[in-house]
Parts: sequence; structure tokens; C-alpha cells
Amino acid sequence: MRILGIETSCDETGIAIYDDGQGDSPEGILAHRLYSQIAVHADYGGVVPELASRDHVRKTIPLIKQVLADANLTPQDLDGVAYTAGPGLVGALLVGCSIGRSLAYGWDLPAVPVHHMEGHLLAPMLEDDVPEFPFVALLVSGGHTMLVRVDAIGEYKLLGESVDDAAGEAFDKTAKLLGLDYPGGPALSKMAESGEAGRFKLPRPMTDRPGLDFSFSGLKTAAGTLVRKQCINIEPALSADQLKKTHADIAHAFQQAVVDTLAIKCKRALLQEKLSRLVIAGGVSANTALREQLAITTKKLGGSVFYPRPEFCTDNGAMIAYAGMQRLKAGTDADLTFKANPRWPLDSLPSVKL
Ligand code: KG4
Ligand code: ZN
Repeated sequence: MRILGIETSCDETGIAIYDDGQGDSPEGILAHRLYSQIAVHADYGGVVPELASRDHVRKTIPLIKQVLADANLTPQDLDGVAYTAGPGLVGALLVGCSIGRSLAYGWDLPAVPVHHMEGHLLAPMLEDDVPEFPFVALLVSGGHTMLVRVDAIGEYKLLGESVDDAAGEAFDKTAKLLGLDYPGGPALSKMAESGEAGRFKLPRPMTDRPGLDFSFSGLKTAAGTLVRKQCINIEPALSADQLKKTHADIAHAFQQAVVDTLAIKCKRALLQEKLSRLVIAGGVSANTALREQLAITTKKLGGSVFYPRPEFCTDNGAMIAYAGMQRLKAGTDADLTFKANPRWPLDSLPSVKL
């Protein structure tokens, strides 16, 4: 069976076709394309929802045509159309929902609404090293930070989440304070590589008390205070080289604080659930320092860490096609009135018994 996946929940239009390998093609992603709207939002320092929706309208259908051509397929070769139905920006979601639902209707195929975070969570299944159930998943994106116990597809128990900013959001806001363009996470991480370890120390929020929730807004504020004290309100003013070094040192301290905080909570979650397999997914899981730290943490517990290739860590159509295929096989077929669901709890999804 083959399914088309459509992702339009935020600022990337992602389209892919996944084949489950039960027919004549091998299992896997047959084609995928991504169009990023970063340039559209760059001048505003963040995503402008209305511009995001309009750009998805422009890009989604041409990308679908390209992906079908890349895979050398026609709509008749497909068995379903999956689209991100939530959570995300409502206008952006509605573009993918309307196009996905209309194409499914026109092509006489089942339409499959997909939960964006389930897409992220299952993205490691597209790699060679597939995690077995049960495992703990750390979902770290621009909009969410969650620890989830995963017993099967659709069997999700929320163990903890951010009470304020998501990890990616904290990366982006701190990057902005350091003069980096949106979305600053990858740029901050690059800057941190040349930073001096130990010159500055930032807090590891909520690690001194029990529980698996996170809070990143205070950490971002602490980083802002450090920037003002060390870079702006300083006499004599720093030279360009000194400023560059101080920015890099702060970036290093910030990244280390986030990585340590996430690693402490992941260890706690694994011990609590008596599990040793950890999955990390979502945009921030592309962060090399985080991957290295979590490899050490899980190894010490006799386990291992699983993650998607970098291009499938951030938003993409492949993860939606994969998650959509699992839901299609479980019998999901949305009716004509299915709506976008911008706030959709992950643990409300039904279990998939394949
Ligand atoms: O999963 P994603 O593409 O979109 C959402 O669903 O939110 O995640 C985007 C987030 C952004 O905040 C971005 O700055 C962050 O992931 N990100 C990173 C890295 N790559 C992406 N943060 C830190 N280090 C990275 N290498
Ligand atoms: Zn995402």
C-alpha cells in the first residue's frame, strides 16, 4: 500500500509518499520534498500565521505533483491521503486538511488525519535502527516538550511536559538575544561549538525537585540577563572579537543547561518506567550536543537512544505519511466533515492494533 503524506502545521510544507512494502516496491519513503518558509518570516523574527497559511496554499499542490513525478507514480497508484490535522496553527492546518480531504474525495481514497506529534514520535521508525516497544520518547520541538511512555502505536502515557516555553522556543528566543535570525536553534548550536565550556553557568530548571515536567522560560530570561550584563551594559564596550567570544560562551552555557536538563529528566523517566530505550524526536532532536549527551545517559543505564535522520527531526511529510499508513491500516478514514484540531492531546489517540 502507498500513502501520500501532507504536512502544513507550521512553517514548512512537507510532502512524501510512503510504501509499506507489501506490494512490488520495497518498504520506505518513495519520494519526499520540503519547502521551508523561513525566508517568508525572516523579517518578522518569527512565524506570521496568516503568511504561513497563504504560502501553504501556494506550495502544497505543486509539491504534491513534484513528489508524484519523483516517485514515478500517478494518483491511481495511491491507497490513501494522510494530512496533519493538528496540533499547530489553525489556518496552516486547514490548508493541508482541505487539500488532503479534497484530493482523497476526488481520487476516491480514504483520508487519514494525522496527529503532528505522533508523526514526530514515529519518525525514528523510518530508520534502519528501529526501536522496539515499549520505550520512553522525548519530543522536543518548537511548540512542545514532552516525555511520553510508548507501549505501542497509539498507547501513549504523558509523563511530563513543559509548563511554559518549549525547548525549541527557548532556543529560538535565546538565539534572537544573541543576534541570530529565526529560527535560531540550529544557528545557536553552531555558535556554541566555539564557546568556552564553564565560563558561564545557567540554571537547570526544575531538576532539584521530583517530577518530569519542564520549564524553560526562566532559563531564557537568565540568558537574557547574562547578555545584557556581559555584552550590552559593560564599560569599556567589548571589541567585535570579544563580543563574538562572549556570545559564543553564552550560547554554550545555554545549550549545556538545556541538554543537561533534558538528560536529567530522561534518566528519571527511564528509571521510573523501568525502561532502557529512549527515542528523541522533533526539531531539537537534531541537536548534536543533545544526541551525544543522551547516548551517554542511556548507555550508563544499559540502554540506547534512537532518533530520526536530521531532515526527519524537523517538520516533514515523511513522518506524516508513515504515521498515516499505520492509522490507515488500523481503519482510520475521516468523514467529509473532519476539522483541523489545533489543540489535540496526544494521549487521546486510539490505540493501533495491527
Ligand atoms: O519539529 P519542528 O521542526 O517544528 C515544530 O513542530 O515546532 O521544530 C522546530 C524547532 C525550532 O525551535 C528550531 O530552532 C529547533 O527545532 N531546532 C533546533 C535544532 N534544529 C532545529 N534546536 C537546537 N538545535 C538544533 N540543531
Ligand atoms: Zn513539528
